[in-house]
Amino acid sequence: MTADPRLIVPLDLPTVDEARDMVERLGDTVSFYKIGLELLASDGMTLARELKASGKSIFLDWKLHDIGATVERSARVLAGSGCDLLTVHAEPQVMKAAVQARGDSSLKILAVTVLTSLTDADLIEMGYAFSARELVERRVRQAIDCGVDGIVSSPHEAALAREIAGPGFLIVTPGVRPFWSAKNDQARAATPEAAIRAGASHLVCGRPITAANDPREAALKVIEEIAGV
Ligand code: C5P
Repeated sequence: MTADPRLIVPLDLPTVDEARDMVERLGDTVSFYKIGLELLASDGMTLARELKASGKSIFLDWKLHDIGATVERSARVLAGSGCDLLTVHAEPQVMKAAVQARGDSSLKILAVTVLTSLTDADLIEMGYAFSARELVERRVRQAIDCGVDGIVSSPHEAALAREIAGPGFLIVTPGVRPFWSAKNDQARAATPEAAIRAGASHLVCGRPITAANDPREAALKVIEEIAGV
């Protein structure tokens, strides 16, 4: 069995060298990696270009959020990296700027609808008049209107997003936990199979794989679970 392009492994490691070691250990079982803020704050873009050159797909989890002009200029630079996915926050000005910048490059724009760490009470405190679910629904519709390629959502909102967006829209879900792994801090987790059945196009599954004694074997177990789903 080889890599399943629907499985994205986040390289949540403190240094680029440790990330390179993890990629080496996973070998041909993983073809898609997410690089997040921790590595981007050091040499993450160098790693991204290196992994692209070796044939991997790359999700840049920058979660851009700024005035449209700045988002557009930054997203244009990132589109030039040849990477595959870029996150921005799901505000219309931000999404439109990122879509404009990616043009017809290979970069797809994903909108982060509502951070899954935010509760309904947090949203009220922040001045929103919506529950998290209502805000996700509103932002999925706005994301479609702005022409973004997909969203990031918890597996629990994937079905709602798929119903609104229909086929073809990217729905990338973190918070994925196989039944055999620890939940860690993912309170509202779903299994890989359940996330795909709910409508996810891609899964982000980190610690169950990267913290396993044998990351290769763990990746293969996840791939086996979603094979045929
Ligand atoms: O190790 P684990 O599978 O929990 O990693 C999940 C990855 O997805 C991490 O990089 C985390 O930052 C990211 N993420 C998340 N929940 C979100 C958005 C991103 O867990 N709502």
